[in-house]
Amino acid sequence: MLRRLHPIQPDSFAFTPENLAWAQGQISKYPEGRQASAIIPLLWRAQEQHGWLTRPAIEHVASMLGMAYIRALEVATFYFMFQLAPVGSVAHIQICGTTSCMICGAEALIETCQELIAPKAHMLSVDGKFSWEEVECLGACTNAPMAQIGKDYYEDLTPTILRELIAKFSSGDVPRPGPQNGRFASEPKSGLTSLEDFATGGGQFNGSVSLALAIGDTVKRIDGSEVPLLTPWLGKASPKAAPKTAAQKPDAE
Ligand code: FES
Repeated sequence: MLRRLHPIQPDSFAFTPENLAWAQGQISKYPEGRQASAIIPLLWRAQEQHGWLTRPAIEHVASMLGMAYIRALEVATFYFMFQLAPVGSVAHIQICGTTSCMICGAEALIETCQELIAPKAHMLSVDGKFSWEEVECLGACTNAPMAQIGKDYYEDLTPTILRELIAKFSSGDVPRPGPQNGRFASEPKSGLTSLEDFATGGGQFNGSVSLALAIGDTVKRIDGSEVPLLTPWLGKASPKAAPKTAAQKPDAE
């Protein structure tokens, strides 16, 4: 599939002050001259803030990292994790359509998205709340069919369950991620026969579900105000200054 920038773009992009401090913290992890290594986390944070990755955002990040625009554009258009067109204001639903999920019913999930959201992938629903696309294997094949909704996985889906999930998202709820058929993780549907305590660790939900619930940003836009910097070497109040912009230091490569 061709991945191109959306024809309609905003005039500008800027990180919120909190996200800018976070971005500068990411940049500081790399030695002088290697700041371009921060391209993926910065593009990702730009997408988390805005909902999708705009041309001004890509150029803004490129300038922060002293990269030629085309190099940042190459990264943004290569990875499917970056959304190059507007997505639903509530959630973008990525249905895995690869072998295991396809065999277990992904096509019916796609039909549900076509019915409830939009007839074609990357189209917005009439109310603008949702969009969807088919993606390649997301690595949760033992819980097929599954979908990534926002940043978390919803597994062991059926059309009925997906319909219920979309209704909950639409009403403002964020349903619990993870297996939706009662499974703890990826154990047999008939239940565990050994290592029962070891497998669950005594917890109500598996590790990734527990973490998703604790973080609570499944479909939330990230303005950075609640996110710790996680760069203790910089100190919270004085993040390292951003490297020179592309205009100041053209990419020499
Ligand atoms: S085939 Fe769908 S997660 Fe792997």
